[in-house]
Amino acid sequence: MLNFSFQNTTQIHFGEGQIKTLGKVIPPSARILVTYGSGSIKTNGVYDQVAEALSEHTWFEFSGIEPNPSYDTVMKALDVIRREKVDFLLAVGGGSVIDGTKFIAAAAFYRGDDPWDLVAKRQRIEQALPIGCVLTLPATGSETNAGAVVTRNGDKLSFHSPLVRPLFAVLDPSVTLSLSDRQISNGVVDAFVHTMEQYLTYSVNGKVQDRFSEGLLLTLIEEGPKALAPETKEDLEVRGNIMWAATMALNGLIGAGVPQDWSTHMIGHEITGAYGVDHARTLSVVLPAVMKVCRDSKREKLLQYAERIWNLTDGDDDSRINRAIELTEQFFETMQVPVRLSQIDIGETDIDGLINKLTQHGMIKLGEHGAITPEVSRDILAAAL
Ligand code: NZQ
Ligand code: ZN
Repeated sequence: MLNFSFQNTTQIHFGEGQIKTLGKVIPPSARILVTYGSGSIKTNGVYDQVAEALSEHTWFEFSGIEPNPSYDTVMKALDVIRREKVDFLLAVGGGSVIDGTKFIAAAAFYRGDDPWDLVAKRQRIEQALPIGCVLTLPATGSETNAGAVVTRNGDKLSFHSPLVRPLFAVLDPSVTLSLSDRQISNGVVDAFVHTMEQYLTYSVNGKVQDRFSEGLLLTLIEEGPKALAPETKEDLEVRGNIMWAATMALNGLIGAGVPQDWSTHMIGHEITGAYGVDHARTLSVVLPAVMKVCRDSKREKLLQYAERIWNLTDGDDDSRINRAIELTEQFFETMQVPVRLSQIDIGETDIDGLINKLTQHGMIKLGEHGAITPEVSRDILAAAL
């Protein structure tokens, strides 16, 4: 196992009805800005629950944070923060609302010319407003992690700082009942790929990390389809298991002390940046291609994955790996997400542009060995056609 330091300070309030704890966990003197998206929280009752929980607090609101939050949108929140002397942010939504709020938290204290430099030039975040969140879409892990992704003019870039990690996260599985099938699928697949990015590398004998990851993968494979099936989709235990799996998949635990890949995500971000494809639907296309192109360097872990996740013990090594990749694609198809670029209307002629963007963004040594150069990324995209 590799050396590591691990700390995750987000307090989690899990379970039905937990939104009411907001009233207790946010200091009574706080001046809160509640941030949200395009209004799903108004139709599913979450907004009313938040309003009720904050009835003794002073709060304002900022709405309209879109999927793949844009810099231009989130910057508008700074006006109300300054005008109303806001000192606490409460993000109510999915990964986009939480990520956008993390950017707002950091931008509020930025003293330079353009807060975009925090992302584009990877400037260190010196100070940020405190954040709490109510998660409505289990997927990204943003509710307890220190990362965020923001887009400006087609450049979809991430940043990290412990200062933007939420102080608390409310995880109430019942608020996920209003999700569309597409968003349920996206969430399950995103969490699955987060786990794979930290698992499917090379072995450092991190037994705990491997077995935790395998537990998350098996849970998502078991519960994901149930959240789409009419007879089980309203089952709160199914929703709860998915929600907790998604949080655990990217809260730092399974990635501590093990090599990590993230090439699927970095290539996927370029696809979203250029074509607006949902985040998870880029991952389901790219991951199988990464497994194919990087099968030699990932060989040992692919065999472990084949055996422990898909019970593949017969046949030679190569046929077990092939079958494991096929079963991964089948799982994605069961979750109703695409597995080829052609299914998201991207063809061979688009590859050059995506490779140029990757290069421009410095994504030239991806993967656990830094061996995924733009040429290898090109092979990956070609394998995904
Ligand atoms: O705008 P609202 O009304 O909130 O509607 C949203 C949005 O249209 C809707 N939704 C959310 N909860 C709902 C709901 N609809 C009905 N009922 C509910 N309970 O779902 C749509 C998608 O929401 P979004 O927040 O965009 O989805 P997700 O949580 O998948 O977040 C995706 C974003 O997170 C980034 C992605 O790149 C993408 O920008 N990621 C963030 C990460 C992180 N911070 O660690 C890691 C991830 O790998 C990922 O990159
Ligand atoms: Zn992701």
